[in-house]
Amino acid sequence: MPTYGGDEVNALVIDVGSTWTRAGFAGEDLPKAYFPSHVGYLESEVEVSETLDSPKENDNAATSSAAATSDQDVEMGDASADDAQKHEEATNGTSKKSKKKMRQFFVGDTESAVWRPGMEIGGPLERGLVKDWDIYEKIWEHAFKSQLRVNPEEHPVMVNEAAWNTSELRTKLIEMAFEKFQCPAFYVCKNPVLAAFGTGRHTGLVLDVGGDMASACAVYEGFCLTKTIQKQELGGELVSSQIMEKLKDDYQYEPTPLFDIKSKAPVDILQKPDVVRYNREGTTASYLQEMRLRAMLEFKETTCEVLERPFNADYANNKPLKPFEFPDGFNISLGAMRFAMPEILFNPNQFMVKRPQRLEGANLVGIHELAIKSAMSSDVDLRPQLLNSVVLAGGSSLFPGLVDRLSLTLQQSIASSRIKMYCPNSNTERKVTAWLGGSVLASLGTFHQLWISRAEYDEHGASIVDKKCQ
Ligand SMILES: Nc1ncnc2c1ncn2[C@@H]1O[C@H](COP(=O)(O)OP(=O)(O)OP(=O)(O)O)[C@@H](O)[C@H]1O
Ligand SMILES: [Mg+2]
Repeated sequence: MPTYGGDEVNALVIDVGSTWTRAGFAGEDLPKAYFPSHVGYLESEVEVSETLDSPKENDNAATSSAAATSDQDVEMGDASADDAQKHEEATNGTSKKSKKKMRQFFVGDTESAVWRPGMEIGGPLERGLVKDWDIYEKIWEHAFKSQLRVNPEEHPVMVNEAAWNTSELRTKLIEMAFEKFQCPAFYVCKNPVLAAFGTGRHTGLVLDVGGDMASACAVYEGFCLTKTIQKQELGGELVSSQIMEKLKDDYQYEPTPLFDIKSKAPVDILQKPDVVRYNREGTTASYLQEMRLRAMLEFKETTCEVLERPFNADYANNKPLKPFEFPDGFNISLGAMRFAMPEILFNPNQFMVKRPQRLEGANLVGIHELAIKSAMSSDVDLRPQLLNSVVLAGGSSLFPGLVDRLSLTLQQSIASSRIKMYCPNSNTERKVTAWLGGSVLASLGTFHQLWISRAEYDEHGASIVDKKCQ
């Protein structure tokens, strides 16, 4: 079997999250590429003739996208039942024309943000699992071809997966790696294991507060203990959307995304923005929402903080105010609100402004409770070791003050064990903890026997993924 560890062949590591994707070379300190996982797409129907000799769907797609760049790829969607019948007629000798859905994709920070009439925006994951394989594939393609500029046929590829990924989805993943991208070797590793490795640990309780999800899971000697998985749809994107709701409720303000601002004039504090809009026709709801959320990011990431002790409005009001001006000119000086919004992570039921429909009835708890529940579902002998090694990962753990507050809250809840938290030192590294773990793991000399080689895949089929990647 060929060896892929060590320096001879650089493995690629790709971490696709619900909001951000990180990709780079194993052994490096940071990923070369960091771009949004949400991609733009234009849907259209094309007429295709189906005969016995008609080319395969993907060949059609390739032909119609001949002029497109790799970031603007065109792809056929699923054929309908009607199509299937037409295909049958075609194979019986009668050539028929049929309509198929086609999507043109726009991947990457700039491409996905450009306004186009009718363009929708969507992500590849739902509750941590791949739900749109076309988008997922486009993300890989963008990472390899446009960002890293490598031929995936020449590099082993390591990818991440949610701790609760299913066997069926892993099968699709390995098939994509070997059939579509023709990778020479492949490995898929669970997020908590990668995050633990990213902080140099093999054992620990990993709490990942990401974009769409917050989850906790115990990792023991490099393996996820699946019975300890705790997860909920409560990440940074929910905090962002709740900030939008709060601004709407308290100040009747809705951010004007950059794409819609033609010109603006300065206004006084808390006054309605004075903007001339493009009023662009054909803006889709998904694009508008995405652009509003992106406008919210800077606001959230630069003004919000977590109090070092449980929220108290008087105490928060005594903290320094922070001014912020939105791209449309609306400006505000923030007091207690900038501490109240991230409290959603600790006390969702009290601090959520307007519960999104998809979460109605969901039993949401604070991230500290997720961690505690996870630790408590592990074997009693293991608990002290886990609590002495709490790994904090995910971009939404970056609110200033969050680490201290979490450590205090956990320590208060579990007096019997000593809590110790681990996360990379710099904010840049903390946004990519799981990727870093993959980079370390894939470059270990001893890792070479763990890769699934093409020969193994050819011999055993896709089911080998469940045997080799545990
Ligand atoms: N400095 C910061 N302060 C607060 N939040 C931040 C900061 N930087 C990033 N975030 C938030 O972190 C979230 C993204 O985190 P991360 O990259 O870990 O998620 P992901 O891996 O894409 O998602 P998931 O793990 O849920 O699939 C976003 O909601 C982003 O706004
Ligand atoms: Mg993540």
